[in-house]
Amino acid sequence: NWNMENFIADQIELIRKQVGDKKVLLALSGGVDSSVVAALLLKAIGSQLTCVHVNHGLLRKGEPEQVVRVFKDELSANLIYVDATERFLSKLEGVADPEQKRKIIGAEFIRVFEEEARKLDGIEFLAQGTIYPDIVESGTKTAKMVKSHHNVGGLPEDLQFELVEPLKMLFKDEVRACGVALGLPASMVYRQPFPGPGLGVRCLGAITRDRLEAVRESDAILREEFAKAGLEGKVWQYFTIVPDFKSVGVRDNARCFDWPVIIRAVNTIDAMTAQVPQLDWAVLQTITARILQEVKGVNRVCFDLSPKPTATIEWE
Ligand code: XMP
Repeated sequence: NWNMENFIADQIELIRKQVGDKKVLLALSGGVDSSVVAALLLKAIGSQLTCVHVNHGLLRKGEPEQVVRVFKDELSANLIYVDATERFLSKLEGVADPEQKRKIIGAEFIRVFEEEARKLDGIEFLAQGTIYPDIVESGTKTAKMVKSHHNVGGLPEDLQFELVEPLKMLFKDEVRACGVALGLPASMVYRQPFPGPGLGVRCLGAITRDRLEAVRESDAILREEFAKAGLEGKVWQYFTIVPDFKSVGVRDNARCFDWPVIIRAVNTIDAMTAQVPQLDWAVLQTITARILQEVKGVNRVCFDLSPKPTATIEWE
């Protein structure tokens, strides 16, 4: 009979059989899938696993710290933490086109990961958090790709590994259950979806440090207040956006010319269509007040009422 305990026990056995005493590499983003793969592999082969966490400087507040705390400090994983913030931001400097931004982030991500992989000796396997819907979607190719997505494919010919994909028969909810059974924190296992290019597609147009900081801080406030209001897990995805134009406002009796923050919150089944839920006005007012008070260079907060279609969930 199929249950999560049996699944984990079987996978541990299969992983040990496949890998033997060889070494395995994993790009650990901190997302649900790669985190669960990491936890499973740690149980199966422990120190034969090396995880690489690339911080592209576009992660949410507290995210790289959580990856290091959970995997390095608590689970004693071999974790290579690469802070590539400067590299990514300088590659992205002045680039305003959304698709161009996505391509640069995706390509640079692979390059950084590749560089780290080359520094390591005797790696024969690459673990990936492929899950069942990934296989089905890329198999049929019917899902319309409105935006370019990325994960760690596309490594050069001379850097090919045998793949270890222990989650490839699981659906997302099963992956989460697996993570819980392996003892990962709920905040990691039940986190909302987050795009590969991260805050880069929420800091509209050419990314600047001040607006990137405004996106990160306002997003942290939004998540904190949603949690306090019991909305975590009730709203599918919620985040903030900072556009690349300013508006006039008034602060301390003087004119100011600052950035707006846009709040986006949607419900969806499959991310192909999405609806905007009715939210408690008082919660929105609290979030607005905190953003205006705490986030530097922001004088206005807006709420995006647009369903998908016609709007996509992300703004870029
Ligand atoms: P859109 O904006 O196309 O987004 O309505 C649909 C869902 O996909 C997420 N998204 C991404 N996820 N890599 C990902 O892994 C990406 O490049 C990417 N772009 C968008 C988005 O957050 C939403 O949940």
